[in-house]
Amino acid sequence: MIPMVDLKRQYAEIKEEVLREIDGVLESSRYILGRKVEEFEKRVAAYHGVKDAVGVNSGTDALNLALKSLGVGEGDEVITTPFTFFATVEAIIYQGARPVFVDIDPLTLNMAPGLIEEAVTDRTRAILPVHLFGLPADMEQILDIANKYDLLVVEDAAQAFGATYRGQKVGSFGDAGCFSFYPSKNLGAYGDGGMIVTDRDSLGSKVRSLRNHGSVGGYLHGRIGMNSRLDELQAAVLLVKLKRIDIYNQKRREKAALYNSLLSDLVACPVEPEGYLHVYHQYTIRTPLRERVAEALKKEGVSSVVYYPLPLHLQDALKNLGYREGDFPEAEKAAREVLSLPIYPELEDSDVEKIAGIIRRVFS
Ligand SMILES: Cc1ncc(COP(=O)(O)O)c(C=O)c1O
Repeated sequence: MIPMVDLKRQYAEIKEEVLREIDGVLESSRYILGRKVEEFEKRVAAYHGVKDAVGVNSGTDALNLALKSLGVGEGDEVITTPFTFFATVEAIIYQGARPVFVDIDPLTLNMAPGLIEEAVTDRTRAILPVHLFGLPADMEQILDIANKYDLLVVEDAAQAFGATYRGQKVGSFGDAGCFSFYPSKNLGAYGDGGMIVTDRDSLGSKVRSLRNHGSVGGYLHGRIGMNSRLDELQAAVLLVKLKRIDIYNQKRREKAALYNSLLSDLVACPVEPEGYLHVYHQYTIRTPLRERVAEALKKEGVSSVVYYPLPLHLQDALKNLGYREGDFPEAEKAAREVLSLPIYPELEDSDVEKIAGIIRRVFS
């Protein structure tokens, strides 16, 4: 059996350190907003070269609180991709704003930068690019358009911790960058967690207040907030993994390179344009024979997953946006052809070879 991710193997390698850190938190009896969260925030801010980082309780809330703290709300439009996880768009709708989709680039699977400008209206408030599967979006073009029309940029970097574009970490380009520490993410906690990074002066303190019921200190509340705090246990675990994230990402890149060398004559492999550093949160191939490949893998005990089978503009929950089939043909085609294969730092080269061999037999 080869799973999509094997968190047990990773845990076996870091178990002693994790248990020591968890014990430290339990002994301290400080479980919410203590030293570990503070230290993790400082380290993540330094890692990204930004002024501040604020821990929250999920990637979804990172998006929610980033948009809210920047004042995105009722009547605003936010330009984003229809080919992403549902949470990207939920966060926009939660603010009372409207998601406006643009189609994707079929090679990168990220928002096609050439299509963004024509989606700008006088209601557009922000662009929300997603660094899908660990590949950065085209930040230069996105920032150019944002500057031209005076728009906010909120990056959904939930799948791309450590990925870089022209040497700069994703999440650090826009007004705010949002991360998820869902356990299977490339930097994953042992529960839910998320973070907002920002280089803006006062945004961090606003998010800190919002994540804690709008508190401005003690039981004084300056605004309506919510309960969305990263907890000490998760921060302690994440500190252990943060030390290793560059090695984890490098190992993912090595597995991806091996997959590429074995599969590129059969299927469309993920691309890494010059100047981009992909962290392969997912290794996602494209082939019209997707169902046959998935079936063959399943028969041999290999997992694979379709991320994502239905683009967001065709989801029932978003019917009221008024989009129809055919509106975003590249996203629709990608949804019919993509298949994500097992990838994680501890995956053996022999497993990659076995998986590639199974796929090759489908095509022979
Ligand atoms: C692109 C993207 N955005 C947002 C999220 C939401 O993160 P979380 O599950 O931590 O709320 C995820 C993760 O599932 C994601 O993949």
